Amino acid sequence: MAQKILVISGDGIGPEIVGAATDVLLALRERFGLDVELEPALMGGAAIDAHGEPLPDSTLALARAADAILLGAVGGPKWDKIDRALRPERGLLRLRSSLDLFCNLRPAVLYPALAQASSLKAEVVADLDLMIVRELTGDIYFGQPRGVETTAAGERIGRNTMIYSETEIRRIAHSAFGIAEKRQRRLCSVDKANVLETTELWREVVTEVARDYPRVSVTHMYVDNAAMQLVRAPKQFDVIVTGNLFGDILSDLASMLTGSIGMLPSASLDANNKGMFEPIHGSAPDIAGRDLANPLATILSVAMLLRYSLNQAAQAERVEQAVASVLKAGLRTADLATPGTTTIGTRQMGREVLNALR
Ligand code: IPM
Ligand code: MG
Repeated sequence: MAQKILVISGDGIGPEIVGAATDVLLALRERFGLDVELEPALMGGAAIDAHGEPLPDSTLALARAADAILLGAVGGPKWDKIDRALRPERGLLRLRSSLDLFCNLRPAVLYPALAQASSLKAEVVADLDLMIVRELTGDIYFGQPRGVETTAAGERIGRNTMIYSETEIRRIAHSAFGIAEKRQRRLCSVDKANVLETTELWREVVTEVARDYPRVSVTHMYVDNAAMQLVRAPKQFDVIVTGNLFGDILSDLASMLTGSIGMLPSASLDANNKGMFEPIHGSAPDIAGRDLANPLATILSVAMLLRYSLNQAAQAERVEQAVASVLKAGLRTADLATPGTTTIGTRQMGREVLNALR
């Protein structure tokens, strides 16, 4: 039976990059026998415009029924002024939490052809292959109480709550150790245990879970140091596991090591590896509709979808190799342009990847 992929294009550059990525899925179906059905749905600003809310119940129901979800990006200035609870980003966060997609994988891999595009020296990033495992359904993103209120004295105060239960920490730690076991078996847990009690607990629980994985060497690092080390010597890391907020920040930082944030895909998985797959970059309203966006992070998210949710490792490799060969041929979207390469648009990049599928 065909597996169902829910396709949420979203806002800004979303439709352009998702268009390129779904073309890849359709090509795999036509040319290489991938048995999938695609179904579109609205979320974010597009859903607010059509239904008055960022995550309509109909989209949530389709998401629950699908085998996997492919997402572009949501948000934009048009919806920045509306009530916080109704903003596009809330739709995304609610979808992550409703489907219990707690395990967010953000691989920062440097394609050899892009060594010159990184903002760090080529030798610092050569062969970089780092996996960031970000907890995605807890932490200050979801903690209560939250909000902005006005005191009796008439002053506004804002509040968010950083909170993690042992259970939440334990399950993401197990995911991260499991991933590390299949890689170089080095796991670095990132926290701020010198200041924040929540993350002191994080460190204790990760240390407990480590006993189940004697083959993995585990280290702990404060998040400020981790940010510095990622820029100083990123290849010291194999797998990083961290909470929702620190993972958000460190994964943007890590993306630049690979040449552009336009290169980083992600997988957000539940306990059964059902997941949502999206580029880590945003909706880039400034370049939307101009055929400038880099579709490769979304195309590489398709590869992760094939590997993690559909169990189609060979198809995933096909996609990753096509991307590598297009980059090797010197073709680049504007975000990756360096002297001696050829700059092409979103649509052309999509076509080149299709041509390179073998
Ligand atoms: C990400 C994004 C989201 C996040 C936003 C759009 C809510 O920055 O996926 O990294 O903060 O998680
Ligand atoms: Mg982010």
